[in-house]
Formats: sequence, C-alpha cells, structure tokens
Amino acid sequence: MLDQYTRNIIKSTVPVLEMYGNEITKTFYKRLFEKHPELLNIFNQAHQKAGDQPKALANTVYAAAVHIDQLEAIIPVVKQIAHKHVSLGIKAEHYPIVGENLLAAIKEVLGDAATPEIIEAWGKAYGVIADIFIQTEANMYNESLQKEGGWSDFRPFVIDRKVRESASVYAFYLKPQDGGAIAKFLPGQYVSIKINDGHYDHIRQYSLTCCPCDGHYRIGVKHERGGNHADGVVSTYLHKQADVGDVLLLTPPQGEFVLDKESKRPALLLGAGIGITPLLSMIRPLAKKSRTVSIVHAVLNGEQHPFAAEIHDYAQKTPDARAITLYEQPTSEDRDAQNYDYEGRITLEILESALPATDIEAYICGPVPFMEQACTMLKELGVPADQIHYEVFGSAQAFGNLR
Ligand SMILES: Cc1cc2nc3c(=O)[nH]c(=O)nc-3n(C[C@H](O)[C@H](O)[C@H](O)COP(=O)(O)OP(=O)(O)OC[C@H]3O[C@@H](n4cnc5c(N)ncnc54)[C@H](O)[C@@H]3O)c2cc1C
Ligand code: HEM
Repeated sequence: MLDQYTRNIIKSTVPVLEMYGNEITKTFYKRLFEKHPELLNIFNQAHQKAGDQPKALANTVYAAAVHIDQLEAIIPVVKQIAHKHVSLGIKAEHYPIVGENLLAAIKEVLGDAATPEIIEAWGKAYGVIADIFIQTEANMYNESLQKEGGWSDFRPFVIDRKVRESASVYAFYLKPQDGGAIAKFLPGQYVSIKINDGHYDHIRQYSLTCCPCDGHYRIGVKHERGGNHADGVVSTYLHKQADVGDVLLLTPPQGEFVLDKESKRPALLLGAGIGITPLLSMIRPLAKKSRTVSIVHAVLNGEQHPFAAEIHDYAQKTPDARAITLYEQPTSEDRDAQNYDYEGRITLEILESALPATDIEAYICGPVPFMEQACTMLKELGVPADQIHYEVFGSAQAFGNLR
C-alpha cells in the first residue's frame, strides 16, 4: 500500500505525463530496445513502426496510477491485458526492465521538472501496479499448465492440413508433435504462434476456429498485404512457406472474448472479413445448448469469403440457426450465383432483421470502424451494452473502449 504523500504526488503528476505521453513513449521504447535488444523478439516491430499499439503500455500505467487509491478498479483491465501478456510469454523478470526504462524516459523527457521525489513516487507506484500484473499472470500460467492436455510457453504443433478458404485466407489444422492431448479452450479464445526469420522471433495471435470438442486445433489466417509497407511477417510466412508436416510453436489458448455458456439467450455472431474466426468456434457449442443463433458475415465478395460453405451447411442443417451474408462489392459471378443476402455494408435495417430477439448476447469481431458502428446500432435496437462482446485483432486499449 502506498503512503498518502506518494499517492498525492502520483495524482498531481499524471496530467503532465499524459501531456508528454508521445515523447515519453518514444524515448521509452528507444531505450528499452537499445539496452535490451532481446525484447525485439517479443514486441511486434510493425506495431512499433505504425505507432498505435506502443502508447497502450505507458497509458495504462498512467490510467492505473489515477486509480492508485482503489486498485481493485483496474483488475478487469489487468486481466484483459494479462491474457495478451501470457500469450506472448511475458515473465515476472521483464517487469523491472520495463519499470527502469519507463522511469528513465520520464526523467529524460521532463528534465529538472522530474524531481527525485516524483521519480521515487512513480517507482513505488509502478512496483505496486507491476505486482498486480505479475500475480495475475502467474495464476494464468499455472492454470494453463494444470489443465488436462495443458502446457506453458510454446509447444510444437505439426501442420496436419493447409486448406485454402478464400483468395486471402488459409485454414491450418494443427496437431501436437508429441501426440499428446491438447487443452480444451473456451469458444472465442486464441493461441499465439511464434516463428523465427533467422534474426528475430515473431509472435502473433490467431483465434481458434474449431470446436473445443475437436481433437485438433484449427486457425484461419488472412494474408496481411502491406500496400506501401512490407507485407505482414507471420501471415506471409504461413501463406507462402509453411506447409503440411512443418512445425509451428503454439502457446496454450488465452483470451477473454468467450461465449457465455451459462446464458440461455439467443446469440448474434457478427463478423466482418477475417473477424469471423473467433465466432466459428462458438457455433457448435451454441447448437449443443439448442440456443437460437444468427450468424452475420460481411465480406467484400465471394472470392474473399472464408468458411462460407461451412457456415452455410451448418445453417441449413440446424433449425435454430440462420446465416446472413453481406457482400460489399459482389462480382458478376456472385450476382449470377445469388450466393449472398444483401449488397453493401451493414445497416440498421439489416441488423434488425437479423436479430433473433433484443434480449440476446451479441459477439462481434472485425475492423474497428465496423465494430463501432455495429455496437451503436445494436444499442439503438435495444441490446443492453453489457450483452455486447467484441474482440479487437490489435490492441483493445489502444483503440479505447468501443462501447
Ligand atoms: C486476439 C487476436 C486474434 C487474432 N486472430 C486472428 C485470426 O484469427 N486470423 C488472422 O488472420 N489474424 C488474426 N489476428 C491478427 C494477427 O495476430 C496478426 O496481427 C496478423 O496476422 C498480421 O500479422 P503479420 O505478422 O502478418 O503482420 P505484421 O508484420 O504484424 O504487420 C502488420 C501490418 O503492419 C504493416 N506494416 C509493416 N511495416 C509498417 C510500417 N513501417 N508502417 C506501418 N505499417 C507497417 C504490415 O504491412 C501489415 O499490414 C488476431 C489478433 C489478435 C490480437
Ligand atoms: C505494469 C506494466 C505493464 C503495463 C501496464 C502494460 C500494458 C500493456 C497494454 C495495455 C498492452 C496492449 C494490450 C492489448 O493488446 O490489448 C500491452 C501489450 C504488450 N505488452 Fe505490456 N504492459 C506492462 C508490462 C509489460 C512488460 C514487462 C512487457 C515485457 C517486456 C510487456 C510487453 C508487452 C508486449 C510485447 C505487448 C504487445 C505489444 C505489441 O507487440 O504490439 N508489457 N501491455
């Protein structure tokens, strides 16, 4: 517990740190990677260059410091971040390194304004916040290890099948190399995959697209094309190089975007593009509970429509399920085949017609603007905010709270 004097210093200096946020963040990462180049194996360098995600770490330290009087308030956010940290293999010994370099960056940017009292107070506050993260993450590592078929860190999996799902998506069926059991996961969770390009490790998250009841894992990977920048490192490797028989390193499943299995409410699964992946693992568990489900998938056109046949077949065979497809720009083949329900983007009217009821659980995944729009529409249609769940394929914190 921090003393009152320290807490007062923290609260009075948060606005200054936020004001110099960008400069402190830049200085922090520059120092961190100069002094600890081994951390380039953990941090995504494309995110560093693009600049959105890096702010999340320091901003969260400041946000936590605002709640320094009642740190219980930050526990839900800590848990969400801890899932990501655990999926990246962040360990207790990394925390002092980050703390030391964050304090040094604050000192460097603020100069004389950062008095020894201020630096000491922030050192203490960081220590308290870091301990909460370390404890939460230790529990998660332990839980993954103790589960039947569970493990910690990275376990080798063999690519059993590689199946093209659309012009830009491959599905990978993965089995553990050791032939052992694999941990059950909660529908909606993801694994991390680590590859090495001969220089650095690169770790990325991929949602599990199979049913937890299957004896294997399956992921669906979109090839991330760079346009003016380099193509995505891991998705390019998986598309262009990885093949059947190759080994991939996987963490145990993590993530908080999961199907509420206790709920008896009908469900809306609303995905855009590759955002359909975490929703796929929810379909069969919903069917087992005979819950009514609408699956809405918005994609560019038939060429860019992964898992189309699977969802269509499922909806045909299941009386309580409906599948609705939106093509933003259908091709002439799509028009001839009439293989979609609506042309264009999602609208309030389409969403209203897709809702199985208003008292539903809604699960959304796709690009952030799509999710923001969908959240607003669902609330307008009377769906309570706490029954709207979403997954961001990036940093949830960097994009703020969509709700
Ligand atoms: C919880 C979660 C679940 C996910 N599930 C899935 C899933 O099921 N399927 C899926 O396909 N993806 C999923 N993702 C996304 C996935 O983890 C990767 O982010 C994605 O595959 C891209 O990784 P990459 O290594 O190919 O690209 P990266 O190397 O990380 O590059 C990302 C982007 O940055 C661009 N870039 C490169 N250099 C620069 C620069 N200098 N300036 C600006 N931009 C630059 C690249 O061109 C690329 O578009 C998920 C992410 C999360 C967080
Ligand atoms: C109290 C200290 C810390 C806080 C408050 C914090 C906060 C955050 C936040 C908010 C994110 C974004 C989460 C998301 O994607 O949804 C994040 C991601 C991340 N954190 Fe931390 N973090 C802390 C410590 C650490 C440490 C010690 C390390 C390891 C050296 C670390 C490594 C990472 C990495 C690698 C990512 C993913 C970023 C990327 O690669 O783009 N963090 N952290």
